[in-house]
Amino acid sequence: MNNDFSKEAVEELLHTKWLGKGDKLRFFESIDSTNEEAKRIFEESGTDGMIILADSQNAGKGRRGRSWQSPPSTAIAMSYLLTPDFQADIAPMLTIIMALATAKGIRKVTGLDASIKWPNDIVINGKKTVGILTEMSAENNRINYCIIGTGINVSVTEFPPEIADTATSLYLESGKEISRAELTARTAEYFEEYYEEFCKRKDLSAFRDEYNSICVNLNKRVRVLDPKGEYEAFSYGINDTGELIVEKDTKEKIAVYSGEVSVRGIYGYS
Ligand code: BTN
Repeated sequence: MNNDFSKEAVEELLHTKWLGKGDKLRFFESIDSTNEEAKRIFEESGTDGMIILADSQNAGKGRRGRSWQSPPSTAIAMSYLLTPDFQADIAPMLTIIMALATAKGIRKVTGLDASIKWPNDIVINGKKTVGILTEMSAENNRINYCIIGTGINVSVTEFPPEIADTATSLYLESGKEISRAELTARTAEYFEEYYEEFCKRKDLSAFRDEYNSICVNLNKRVRVLDPKGEYEAFSYGINDTGELIVEKDTKEKIAVYSGEVSVRGIYGYS
């Protein structure tokens, strides 16, 4: 059991400059959803750089209206509350940065080959270990807040039947107990570093190559689940603005902005 997950344990290990520092770190034993708590905190105080953590969630939210399970003592549920002054249309790149920071944090703390499935998931041995849900409020391209919510299956061993074949945890893949406090701290440190660079450049050019080097969608045939029609293509990885560059069999190259991409051999597409 991972019992080291507390505000004090994270505080002690966290070596960021501003993210989650001092009174910008909140910890809950149980909460509805850390993303929802981040919204409440924004309404109260508008604090930038806040990290909200929970040992468990009872109404955790996944993407596309799905729910997300964060059972007690086995998972990390965390949300970053940010109020950046860049324009809202570049905010989706924050998900890319979060995925990279989390994959790097997992690699550092566990030694596991954590890879990114563009744009929102971290997979290990082809199974999903992390999901990211980014939510934003903006007016006239001006951001009120961005909330990046990340759920990590740390020592979860049982999953709901619908995801039992496609989900895994750090414990199941490594056979080791992983410190949730340490993983939270390392991930935040990577994120802060990437985020500061992103704020200067307003694009992903500083870490695009690193992202692509651990992206399962690099140099692979993929199936693009475009609402206007699915198709197969060859993926060249992401460009400087986070879109996936794919080449159709007709040789037409397309930057895929949204919709999901599945990869042969990876869950959801076989
Ligand atoms: C997905 O569907 O893959 C995204 C899952 C995101 C889950 C995290 S857990 C912390 C934060 N709070 C939530 O309610 N959801 C996100």
